[in-house]
Amino acid sequence: MTIEQQIADLKLVPVIKITDPAHAAPLAEALIAAGLPVAEVTFRTDCAAEAIKIMSQYKDLLLGAGTVINAAQVEEAKNAGATFIISPGFSPEVSKACIAAGLIYFPGIASPRDIQDALADGWKTLKFFPAEALGGVNTLKAFAAPYPGVKFVPTGGINADNVGEYLALPQVQACGGSWMVPNKLMDAGDFSGITKIAKEALNKIK
Ligand code: 3PG
Repeated sequence: MTIEQQIADLKLVPVIKITDPAHAAPLAEALIAAGLPVAEVTFRTDCAAEAIKIMSQYKDLLLGAGTVINAAQVEEAKNAGATFIISPGFSPEVSKACIAAGLIYFPGIASPRDIQDALADGWKTLKFFPAEALGGVNTLKAFAAPYPGVKFVPTGGINADNVGEYLALPQVQACGGSWMVPNKLMDAGDFSGITKIAKEALNKIK
């Protein structure tokens, strides 16, 4: 099964900011225990690659790197064991690096021009970001209309209350978000709390 299909099956992609590598293993276990074995570990902290390396030991976990904004981070993410790359905006540099590295890229898009740039490089599943701030499902519908083959993973301002509206659209493969892995619980080391929230998120979309 392709990574795009796996993400479409899971329907949710937790966006993660790890500040302490010691959180990586218990977080992987918490997500697997919840039945949501997928993580986008963002390069917003210096220990992102280290965390990805630790989490890559969990073979059941679909593991990607997020907030990847240059080719060096693509290399770091690949070496650490990430199997897909996400960025907040479309980056020609990241796109080229992913093609060269054989990694799947989910580029962020915020305009028709971004969509066309992504399509020109062969990417057809795109992160609509920041979804809520850009007008939510109405904007997404308008973006999707001219590009029937394009699928979206909206992220940004999505939560348990509005995730259903997005997933109801046929073009939406999955939704990303940080609400499933709250920083507060991570900082407190409350991994059973994270399992609970991730399970609740899954129940909400059943
Ligand atoms: C991302 O990079 O995908 C976003 O920062 C996640 O957005 P959220 O925190 O609003 O879910």
